Amino acid sequence: MTPTVVGRDSEIRILEELLDGVRDGGACMLIRGDAGLGKSTLLLAAKERARARGMLVFSTTGVESEAHLPFAGLHQLLRPVLAGAAKLPDPQRLALLGAFGMADGAGRTCFSSRWPA
Ligand SMILES: Nc1ncnc2c1ncn2[C@@H]1O[C@H](COP(=O)(O)OP(=O)(O)O)[C@@H](O)[C@H]1O
Ligand SMILES: [Mg+2]
Repeated sequence: MTPTVVGRDSEIRILEELLDGVRDGGACMLIRGDAGLGKSTLLLAAKERARARGMLVFSTTGVESEAHLPFAGLHQLLRPVLAGAAKLPDPQRLALLGAFGMADGAGRTCFSSRWPA
C-alpha cells in the first residue's frame, strides 16, 4: 500500500502532467536528491498513478555489483515480458536474446557493450 505522500504537491502535479501526456510522445523525469529525501516515495507514487491509468509499469534498478554485466538492467526491466520475445521477428529476437546471453547469433555482436568501438 502506498504511504501517504506529504508536502510534495508540486512534484506530484508534475508527475500527473507527465503521465497525462505520456501516450502522446513519451516522457521522462529525473529525480535527484540526498538519501532519505523521498526519491523512492515519488517513484512509487508515479508507478501507482501510472497503473491507475491502466499503464503497464516496468522498473529496474542499477546494482553496482552488476555494472560489469552488459544489459543487466535492461534484462531486469524486460524479464516480465521476455517470454513474448518468441513472437518477435528472427533478427530482433536474436538481437535481444543474444544481448542477454540467451541465444547465439548476431545480436550478441550488434549489442556488444563495446559496440561501436
Ligand atoms: N513526501 C513524503 N511523505 C511521507 N513520507 C515520506 C515522504 N518522502 C519520504 N518519506 C518517507 O521517508 C523515508 C525515506 O524516503 P525514501 O523515498 O526512501 O527516500 P530516498 O529514496 O530519497 O532515499 C521513507 O520511509 C518514506 O516513506
Ligand atoms: Mg530510494
